[in-house]
Amino acid sequence: MNQGESIRVGILGFGTVGQGAWKHLVENAGSLRKILGVELVPARASVRDLSKERKVSVDPEVLTTDSLSIVDDPEIDLVCELIGGIEEARELTLRAFGNGKSVVTANKALICEHGEELFSAAEEAGVRYAFEASVAGGIPIIKVLRESLVANEFPLIYGILNGTSNYILTRMENEGASFQEVLSDARDLGYVEADESLDLDGVDAAHKAVILAYLAHGMWINLDEITVEGIRKISNDDLLEARKLGCKIKLIGVIRRNFENNHVSAGVYPALVPVGEIIARTNGVYNGVSLTGTVVGTVVLTGRGAGQDPTAGSVISDIVDVVKAMKGMTSLPKLMHVTPDECKAATSSEVRGRFYLRLHVDDRPGQLAKIAECLADSEVSLATVSQTPKGEDSSASIILTTHETNEHSIELAIQSLENLPGVKESPVLFRMFDPNGFEA
Ligand code: NAP
Ligand code: HSE
Repeated sequence: MNQGESIRVGILGFGTVGQGAWKHLVENAGSLRKILGVELVPARASVRDLSKERKVSVDPEVLTTDSLSIVDDPEIDLVCELIGGIEEARELTLRAFGNGKSVVTANKALICEHGEELFSAAEEAGVRYAFEASVAGGIPIIKVLRESLVANEFPLIYGILNGTSNYILTRMENEGASFQEVLSDARDLGYVEADESLDLDGVDAAHKAVILAYLAHGMWINLDEITVEGIRKISNDDLLEARKLGCKIKLIGVIRRNFENNHVSAGVYPALVPVGEIIARTNGVYNGVSLTGTVVGTVVLTGRGAGQDPTAGSVISDIVDVVKAMKGMTSLPKLMHVTPDECKAATSSEVRGRFYLRLHVDDRPGQLAKIAECLADSEVSLATVSQTPKGEDSSASIILTTHETNEHSIELAIQSLENLPGVKESPVLFRMFDPNGFEA
């Protein structure tokens, strides 16, 4: 580690993922410094074409076409291999190990083909080869499988492992869109591999399935010996017909282990998956991995499986782990403490939302008007009202929903409703959860 308290990161490849990693290292420098106690500095990056316009702007001097000069640079502490492809990526990775540098990668094709060699070379060199971003983009599947679920054996792992295919199938089904049209959008969104047949013919998902099989069962499956099919033959009609059968067609990777005869099987193919399965309801660029463990039962993880930001997030998670190892931190990263100047708890007037209220009231003229007045006095505006007579004792149940307001106003409204003549019981209040939330 050089320069005392900073780690200089060299990024091979400044495309979708490389630029994302650089951007987020810069944007999150403060919080990363807090949890690691050192500065993470994205220092240099390599490209093929220096004249290409980049969305993430950097000083032109940090870019080079000579990846080897980064790997060999004594000022670079840690390398991220984000160029993709096989042979050059393999050579650069081995060279970095030889130079005593750990490597973080998103390159599932390389791991699938040369994982055995690369993991042992890293071990021999006493460095790390970290690959969270290689499977399922932003989903922390590698960590979960290796660490969180360590008590388990896995009779079944299955799921959606390719974001591009799932994005295409979802839009074909939901919008009747054509395969070619959606593929072009997926390219623009940075989901698609440089060699797009990897995505469309199931090979990319198979690379990921091979990695998962290795992590779960400790053996490298040969890609040539398993079923690998892609999505090209799926028509819009197939997707609609599957729905009539209560299913969705998804491109899934399936890894099964039979513990009686100790056989492992793996494959990637389009399949009709019953809609009751979370995997069937995992749409768009989302990936979903269902892990059935002998101890935990079934755990399903879903999240964005491709694209700049989620993938860069996984790369940075690996960088943090590698830096922890370099610093000899054996525990979790430090808990992050912020000062009140940086962040503070929102007050009840700042927490916004919509509410559902149930009131049990005397069913008499003017009662609803009084309730509306109470709410208006507290600056709560009504969105919907419905009243059901209760029958025997001329009382009624009134269900109200509000427009967006805040916790403080609704508390005031409840207090005045409790004291309002004709309101027979304490009002029942529920928050109407909105995943998109309201600003605090
Ligand atoms: P990309 O957008 O095509 O970027 C590749 C970058 O590497 C480009 O900047 C390219 O330079 C550079 N490059 C390629 N060969 C090079 C060489 N020989 N020397 C120097 N630079 C070279 O690819 P990406 O989508 O970021 O993917 C990178 C890796 O991440 C791949 O292994 C991919 O499978 C994996 N991955 C991608 C995603 C995703 O959502 N995109 C998700 C998970 C994993 P130019 O820009 O000058 O051409
Ligand atoms: N092309 C890959 C996908 C990128 O669409 O899933 C993420 O590995």
